[in-house]
Amino acid sequence: MCGIVGYIGPKNAYPILIKGLKRLEYRGYDSAGIALSNGDIRLFKKPGRVSDLEESINGNDISGNIGIGHTRWATHGEPNQVNAHPHYSQNKTLAMIHNGIIENYSSLRAELISRGHVFLSETDSEVLIHLIEDIQQSEGLGLVEAVRVTLNQVIGAYAIVILAKSDNDTLIAARKGSPLVIGIGENEHFIASDATPIIEYTKQVVYLNDEEIAIIPRNGDMKIITISDQKKTPYIQKLEMNLTAIEKGGFEHFMMKEIFEQPHSIRDSMRGRLRIEHEKISLGGISEYEGKMAAAKRIIMIACGTSWHAALVGEYLFEDIARIPVEVEYGSEFRYRNPIINEDDVVIAISQSGETADTLAAIRLAKAKGATIIGICNVVGSSITRETHAGSYTHAGPEIGVASTKAFTAQVAVLTLMALRLAQMRGTIERSRFHFLLQELDQIPSKVEEALKVNHQVIEISKMFLNTRNFLYLGRGYNFPVALEGALKLKEISYIHAEGYPAAEMKHGPIALIDENMPVVVIATNKGTYDKVVSNIEEIRARKGIIIAIVTKGDTTVKRLADYIIEIPETEEMLVPLLATIPLQLLAYHIAVQRGCSVDMPRNLAKSVTVE
Ligand code: G6P
Repeated sequence: MCGIVGYIGPKNAYPILIKGLKRLEYRGYDSAGIALSNGDIRLFKKPGRVSDLEESINGNDISGNIGIGHTRWATHGEPNQVNAHPHYSQNKTLAMIHNGIIENYSSLRAELISRGHVFLSETDSEVLIHLIEDIQQSEGLGLVEAVRVTLNQVIGAYAIVILAKSDNDTLIAARKGSPLVIGIGENEHFIASDATPIIEYTKQVVYLNDEEIAIIPRNGDMKIITISDQKKTPYIQKLEMNLTAIEKGGFEHFMMKEIFEQPHSIRDSMRGRLRIEHEKISLGGISEYEGKMAAAKRIIMIACGTSWHAALVGEYLFEDIARIPVEVEYGSEFRYRNPIINEDDVVIAISQSGETADTLAAIRLAKAKGATIIGICNVVGSSITRETHAGSYTHAGPEIGVASTKAFTAQVAVLTLMALRLAQMRGTIERSRFHFLLQELDQIPSKVEEALKVNHQVIEISKMFLNTRNFLYLGRGYNFPVALEGALKLKEISYIHAEGYPAAEMKHGPIALIDENMPVVVIATNKGTYDKVVSNIEEIRARKGIIIAIVTKGDTTVKRLADYIIEIPETEEMLVPLLATIPLQLLAYHIAVQRGCSVDMPRNLAKSVTVE
């Protein structure tokens, strides 16, 4: 979703801003723009890619060592040049970039129009910068004070950066609900939606908190005040990320790199936590809350998108081995349906970015009602991690491809560790079985490596389906969420319609779709309901559907029935999602690449969905 970048310091701002915008492309956007200043503010905006913007700027004056840049993901108004950010204030004394949504923008806009303001765009953001200038001029306030007064009048979410024509030695930034991080260099500052544009310049950062305004000078220290005018001391943190983690490293796409990183990302997410020699699982981040979790009458898992699929695997795991009832909720549904929550409830929020607006709002609601909130997030210092009581990070490293891959398997790995830990505490698992499962889990990274070897075979299979319009994905038990995730991957990046279904439910509807043109991906691994799945495959075969089966190595039964077979290594049933997901990620990837789709930045999608 919208990306923000800003620079103030001794260097030319333009190359830093353009590079920063390219780093932020992964968040998803449809237009881009830059404002530079050396006395006069110059705006450059363009629909399309950052490279289109760059091309359109060629030959213009790009001097100036203060500037702001933005990638816009359209909410109010279509993605055209006028609606792209930055936006000017009425008298062009200010330019602003904004991420978030100003919910009361239409009443503010009507009021400003009645006072003679003329708006060029359809955006809510333009209203905000007009209001700031209006308050500044009508009440004779300095810019910081005008920003503060304005932000007290707006309802909604914002991360903003303001460039003032009259002061080329200061940038003003503020946030509520949308992320903003400020990098501190040698006599220079960098501002961005996340750390990726900053990492190559400095590792010292300050994450702005909600309702904080940062006054960022060219030289000297930044100051922070809240919108209720309290002074805050900036809390400087060190970034752990390194540059190679956000570059492609020889792969054609980030998604492919991230798929192939999974042996490491799963291992990293279990490192120091899975301690076979001590027959122990240590999850330091939640140690103070483990007792509460183990005693919970129910656990509610809240997430969106792929993380919601990880939560479904979590439900199976927690109920199966820890015997704790689990409810899985979409953030967006949970918050608007008057849910029953009390102080005994434990909520686990699962999010790669830690910024998803619906998940964030849902945990705020649950927290206000007294529930204990545990996070499973990938981005260190993100909003969700700061609002939870405790949590366990997934250590998947930065995930740049919009379609989530390594974050999903890392989430499932952490959920597996949590389920095993709670099972041990609650005495719902035999010691020998616990020990055996730890050993099996420990082998998962090398089995993922093995599973990745089907890559070439998957390329060949994918060639058969480049013009297919629909796909069905089926699985049962632990493999049902895997089917959902496989279907989501395909539709996200190849734009082929795909549905995931519990295999047995096929006969209640989707079976009507099956004919000789319908490919059906069936996850038919050798444990649990294997025989039942084989019957489902027979049903598809009887209707001439094309069967692509994911099976356990050495399978012979399904091999006889399926048109295409992809093998994964043998493992325990509860660990199968960590392996069965791999060929489905590869299948989606190769189909999308061969269809010429923009794999890392699929149309209309955003990596981090910071609006409701
Ligand atoms: C977006 C992304 C998905 C992601 C979902 C939830 O839709 O494109 O890949 O699964 O948001 O994001 P989160 O960061 O909360 O896991």
